[in-house]
Order: sequence, then C-alpha cells, then structure tokens
Amino acid sequence: MQKPLNNKNVLLGICGSIAAYKSPDIVRRLQDLGAEVRVVLTAGGAEFVSERSLQTVSKNKVHDNLWDAEAELSMGHIELAKWADAIVIAPASANTIAKLCHGRANDLLTTLILATTAKILIAPAMNQQMYASMATQDNLKLLESRNMVIAKPEFGEQACGDIGEGRLAEPTSIALQAANLFQNTQLGGKKVMITLGATIEAIDPVRFISNHSSGKMGMALASACIEAGATVTLIIGSISVAVESRAINIFVTSADDMLEAVMSNIGEQDIFISCAAVADYRPVNIAQNKIKKDSETLSIELVRNPDILANVCQMKNKPICIGFAAETENLIKNAKNKLKNKGCDAIILNDVSNSKIGLKSDQNEVFFITKDNCEKINITSKIIIAKKLVEKISEVLI
Ligand code: PMT
Repeated sequence: MQKPLNNKNVLLGICGSIAAYKSPDIVRRLQDLGAEVRVVLTAGGAEFVSERSLQTVSKNKVHDNLWDAEAELSMGHIELAKWADAIVIAPASANTIAKLCHGRANDLLTTLILATTAKILIAPAMNQQMYASMATQDNLKLLESRNMVIAKPEFGEQACGDIGEGRLAEPTSIALQAANLFQNTQLGGKKVMITLGATIEAIDPVRFISNHSSGKMGMALASACIEAGATVTLIIGSISVAVESRAINIFVTSADDMLEAVMSNIGEQDIFISCAAVADYRPVNIAQNKIKKDSETLSIELVRNPDILANVCQMKNKPICIGFAAETENLIKNAKNKLKNKGCDAIILNDVSNSKIGLKSDQNEVFFITKDNCEKINITSKIIIAKKLVEKISEVLI
C-alpha cells in the first residue's frame, strides 16, 4: 500500500526539552506513514533522550555533531540537507527557534536548516510562559513568514507543574502534519481518473498477450494528484508497484474491462489521464481449454481493441483529456499525431526504446505536448516527473 510519506526522506531534529522523550515515538509514527527517517540530536536533546534509542528505532546512525569527521565522510552535512524532503524539529526549544530566526549556524541542526531546500515543520515544546512570551511568539511568526509550518503545542499540565499551552503536539499529529507539508492546492477539489498498468488479453485459460508496464508512472501521478488536492480514481491493470491507498482503486484485466470501468465512472471526473499501456489487439477467440502444442506453427487471429482514450475524448461533456504516447521512433511527430487524432488536450511523450526510462524503470524523461507547446522534462525519477506534470497540468490546462 502506498502511504502519504512513501519515498519521502524526513530528518527529525530533536532539541533540549523534556518532551524529547517522545521523539522515538515520533520516528515510529513517521515510519508508519512510509517515511525514511534520520535523526539529528542537539546537545540539549541528548540530555533527555538517548542516541541509542533513536538509532535503534530509526535504523540509522544518529547525527549529532557538525565537526564529526567520520560522520562527514559517510554523509556530510550538506549532503544530509539535500537528502531531506522534510525537516521536522520536534521538540523545538525556544533557543533553537530564536537561532533559526537569526540564521545562526552554530550546531548541526541550525546549519542544516540554512543549507536545505526541504519543507520545514517546527513543533515547539516549552514552559507555557516561555511559549507565551512576546519574543517566542514573534519568532514563530517570523518563521511562518519564511514558509516554515508550526505544529502548535497543546494546552495541559506541564512537566514543571504549570498548566498552559506549551506541551508538544502528539506524535501522531506531528507525523500527519509532516505528511501535510507535501500537500498543495494545484488540483484542489478536482476529480482525476487515471488508467495505469498493462491490460491482459487472454489466449486460453493460462496464456495471454500483455506488455511490460509496471504501473510506476501512473501510481506516481496518482500520489502527485492526491498531494495536489485531487480526489483520484484509479483504473488499474496488471501492475508490479504498491497501490496508492488514498485513491479509489478499481482493478481490471482486459482492455474491454478497462473501457467499461472508465466509462461507468468518467461522468463526474474533471481530468482523465490515460497512462495505461492498453493492448492494441486481443485474440478473436479465447480457447476454452489450454491450447495443445500438436502443430509446428500456430496462428492467433487478433482483433483491434477499443481505444479508451479516444472514447473519452469523444464524449460530449468530456473531462480534460491527457494521453501518453509510448514511442520508439519519430518521437515528437508521432506524439503530435496522437494528440490530434485522439483529440486530447495534452499528450505526454516518452521514449520506450530506452531501457533507462519509460517501461518498468523508476525514471522517465518526457515531453509535455499541447497544441501550441512542447516542453521537455529531463530524466529524473517518475515521482518527480509526476509532480512536474501536475504543475504543468494545473498551469496550462486548468
Ligand atoms: O507503467 P510503467 O512501467 O511506469 O511505464 C509507463 C508507460 C511507459 C506505460 C507510460 O508512461 C506510457 O507511455 N503509457 C502509455 C502506453 C501506451 O499504450 O501508449 P500508446 O502510444 O500505445 O497509446 C497512446 C494513448 O492511448 C495512451 O494514453 C494509451 O493509454 C491510450 N490507449 C491506447 C490504446 C487503447 N486501446 N486505448 C487507449 O486508451
């Protein structure tokens, strides 16, 4: 099952606060949502929680020193800053919050914050009066204005005996807020249907015609659309990738099944993305029993499958239609022909003759083609390609 923090690297920064004893639980909750977690422990944090516990739960060496030559050799601080998709500081002490405001870099955590482009979540935990102080409140406002997100502390009895606002937010809530960092509103409120994977066309009860589609490109698009605020329906053929659990998932086998599932659910969709590798032909007859090998040659008569994308494009109140073009030669020319002939609003071209990209690979390189435009997205992971495509769709087609 795909989870909201699948494929996300989260760096957990732990500062000096009694609430640091909850940090191993925060690591676990982030992992529950699919994150790969590494920990940075400040000197203050190390007073409240042991490096060994954090190393055990995170299954990674804990980073605690800017000047540790050995750690720098395995993953230097700049590399660590680049590794992170998100940095969560929980608990964040008043001191670290103040240092962040001033752009200080006098320990590993503050240096990483300056050196990263990752999304940042700050979960303050401190005495209620320290939290209420004008300095802390102004500092938090300043950090918010720099696009950092604050996981507000809770009201309640504190370790020091005071009652007020300053208790660290619950680990589950911090993990969910970390997942929300990746949400945007590019497709806010839109309904998106995506077909993905390979169709399977039976020859007899044990054999079939199919192709190498893994579903990776379509599933990456599903996650990117969900993170952009869309409600996603997936029509899933044969795949070898985890299913996106936040989508409405409909499983199909053949092109005919896929057409039926698409047409029964397309009415309410705003956007249709046809990423499936649909078999163009199927056997005219499916043998009832396993075909015997009693002749030297065997011919199977094939008939054209329905074109699902073209069917959707021809609807009276059609959604925005985006096709894929899987090409091996005359790439741009063939893709432009498909754009025109099928009547889609955009076509995403990939070269499936290159084994580094396209079918089965974790990477892709695509051209986003509309009637008036043709833009290349250079080779990178399908996850990043999907995010860039969602950006393009929201900019150009909505
Ligand atoms: O699944 P992966 O391993 O990650 O690989 C991703 C991919 C290479 C399969 C994907 O990026 C891709 O290119 N998908 C489209 C594959 C394909 O069938 O391309 P095509 O050029 O033959 O078809 C053009 C378009 O018509 C496609 O949007 C296709 O979904 C659609 N089509 C094709 C035939 C058909 N009978 N019905 C259709 O809807």
